[in-house]
Amino acid sequence: MKAPVICIDGPNASGKGAISRALAEHLGWHRLDSGVLYRALGLAASRRSLSPADSGVLAALAAELDVDLHGERILLDGEDVTRELGTEEAGTEASRVAVLAPVRAALLERQRGFRRPPGLVADGRDMGTVVFPDAKWKVFLTASPEVRAARRYNQLRHQGMDVSLAGLFEAIRERDERDRLRDTAPLRPANGALQLDTTHLGVSEVLACVIEHVRTTGRSMRPEVSGEQGGDGHRQRTCGDT
Ligand code: C5P
Repeated sequence: MKAPVICIDGPNASGKGAISRALAEHLGWHRLDSGVLYRALGLAASRRSLSPADSGVLAALAAELDVDLHGERILLDGEDVTRELGTEEAGTEASRVAVLAPVRAALLERQRGFRRPPGLVADGRDMGTVVFPDAKWKVFLTASPEVRAARRYNQLRHQGMDVSLAGLFEAIRERDERDRLRDTAPLRPANGALQLDTTHLGVSEVLACVIEHVRTTGRSMRPEVSGEQGGDGHRQRTCGDT
């Protein structure tokens, strides 16, 4: 029996990180922040002056990437790069390498390796569609672009980073577009995902909604079949509509 997985996907600053962290803590499950792997690869690539045109080299780098996730700390080649990876620039670098199919293939098994008892909460862009298509629970979070930019602005300012709201808005818009329009594992809700617009919701409200969804629909939700990528039409659900 494979360990259970809850997938939390969505665009930038839709609340995935906060929700998956809180949910994993609540359940006592493991957590995978898959964006960290792409951010670490983006940083490793820019340190080696590699561009997306070097897709073969990037895929090889992805396969042997020395990245260690120590709770909230991230080590790349043994160096603590947590702060560097938290910038919007690191997100942009990540999204440039993330369009490459060989890179995504190289990171697939590593991500699946995080699936361990008692369970995994995994967040990213393609957790429900590609990485864990058989997951019992899939959630897709959204929020208005303005609110997402404001959230990221507050988060980065809180960490002492000097950012502008207008600059972030534009960077996030571009990154979302790249993530949505790429050919491999584009950002989109998985079939059957619970879709939640978090524009007017706080973390505790979204968390309560997801916990309710897990409790009430877990047993009856049909497991997804593989081949999600080509799937079409997904049941839109809202909180309380289980
Ligand atoms: O979630 P985060 O902002 O850390 O992700 C950074 C970038 O990594 C995303 O914009 C996306 O391009 C890429 N990514 C991805 N698939 C994932 C997680 C992240 O393509 N599962």
